[in-house]
Amino acid sequence: VVLDSQERRKLDERDDRTFYDGPRYVTHVDEGFLDRLTDRYASLLANGDRVFDAMSSHVSHLPDYEFERVVGHGMNAEELAANPRLDDWFVRNLNEEPELPFEDGSFDAVLCAVSVQYLQRPEAVFAAFGRVLAPGGVLVVSFSNRMFPTKAIRAWRERDMDGRAALVTAYVDSTGLFDEPSVVRERPERDPFYAVVARRRA
Ligand SMILES: C[S@@+](CC[C@H](N)C(=O)[O-])C[C@H]1O[C@@H](n2cnc3c(N)ncnc32)[C@H](O)[C@@H]1O
Repeated sequence: VVLDSQERRKLDERDDRTFYDGPRYVTHVDEGFLDRLTDRYASLLANGDRVFDAMSSHVSHLPDYEFERVVGHGMNAEELAANPRLDDWFVRNLNEEPELPFEDGSFDAVLCAVSVQYLQRPEAVFAAFGRVLAPGGVLVVSFSNRMFPTKAIRAWRERDMDGRAALVTAYVDSTGLFDEPSVVRERPERDPFYAVVARRRA
């Protein structure tokens, strides 16, 4: 286990469902960040991949590839229904139910964009990410310094960007399912671009 019980706490402890009740058709980081994210996906993904976009919304930031299947997950059904890249999607509160409804090895890529700070049981969720990835499949967890502060866990709020990268790396390592993760750090004009990238162990 990476976090103690205090580090999992949020300032707003109310059910996350209440917070995500209404759709938000916004982007949560600046365009420099999103361009880098799409570029990174372009270099790591390929035509024909089966992609899972965890903690998604109305946008998935994917390059213009022909994927075999893109499945999205999030908290707001209206946002997910409006996302043009998703073939299929479901709503699930991962803080209550961290498992994923897929067979082992169902995906070539698992993506989690600017959302990891909201997970209160990240070890269990990352174990599920690893389980649903095929051997050699890639996990891409991106983040910046923006967040809904009342909904981010304490461990995230009290760390700087490199501390957050170390935290996400520890989530990955705690599963025992991935090769050594790499950390991407780029500094666009405003919102710093960070991504932890890890391959499912063969
Ligand atoms: C800042 S948005 C990012 C959405 C999307 N990945 C993007 O790039 O625009 C945070 C997302 O985290 C997800 N999320 C927050 N709390 C969650 C929870 N308890 N369980 C599952 N997903 C959650 C929601 O889907 C929400 O849309």
